[in-house]
Amino acid sequence: MQFIPPLDLDQLKGFLAKDEAEALFQAALLTSKNGPVLEIGSYCGKSTICLGMACRENGSSVFALDHHRGSEEHQQGEYFHDPDLYDPGSAQVDTFREFRRNISAAGLDNTVVPIVAASELAARHWNTPLGMLFIDGGHSLDAALADYRCWVGHLLRGGVLAIHDIFPDAAKGGQAPYAILRMALNSGLFEETARVNSLALLRRL
Ligand SMILES: C[S@@+](CC[C@H](N)C(=O)[O-])C[C@H]1O[C@@H](n2cnc3c(N)ncnc32)[C@H](O)[C@@H]1O
Repeated sequence: MQFIPPLDLDQLKGFLAKDEAEALFQAALLTSKNGPVLEIGSYCGKSTICLGMACRENGSSVFALDHHRGSEEHQQGEYFHDPDLYDPGSAQVDTFREFRRNISAAGLDNTVVPIVAASELAARHWNTPLGMLFIDGGHSLDAALADYRCWVGHLLRGGVLAIHDIFPDAAKGGQAPYAILRMALNSGLFEETARVNSLALLRRL
């Protein structure tokens, strides 16, 4: 099935290339029949919309987990800081308002379940098996390891683990997502099925 975005994704704030958007949609289309999708790191909803469109097709849901306070690189003075997403009232980044607006505009209010919390906190009492897990949260080594350890055990056999921002060459990008990719492969629990741009797709054996 072809991915037809409900709105122009290029106009949305976010960090996802076109080919990665298509790959996320196709992976969620295959796996969300078996269980819901959970993503860590929704930002303004770009990836959420791709996953959500597939889940809607299958009558499934996407849990969109983000504390909406931005990662290290989104904070004031950092390279990816966006002043439009800074709330002077709380003196913090706040991407939730923009996220909510985009999800509604995409017609996905009945498919996307936002979880506004830190990844480790949300995982504490989680008990639902997942058809797909997309990791695109904090990119420090501690954050990526925590996301991997907290969530991978909930993935169903045959489910898909997608990890964004894979850069085998350290000169091209941070190494934390690549570290958890290698950890997944070394565990013997996953096989890599595709690499699309900086997105790795793995199948839980
Ligand atoms: C690179 S952005 C995600 C980009 C998004 N997937 C897209 O399609 O544009 C990373 C997001 O992870 C969130 N984040 C970072 N650390 C987190 C944590 N420990 N728990 C929850 N969210 C976190 C940040 O708030 C930020 O919105």
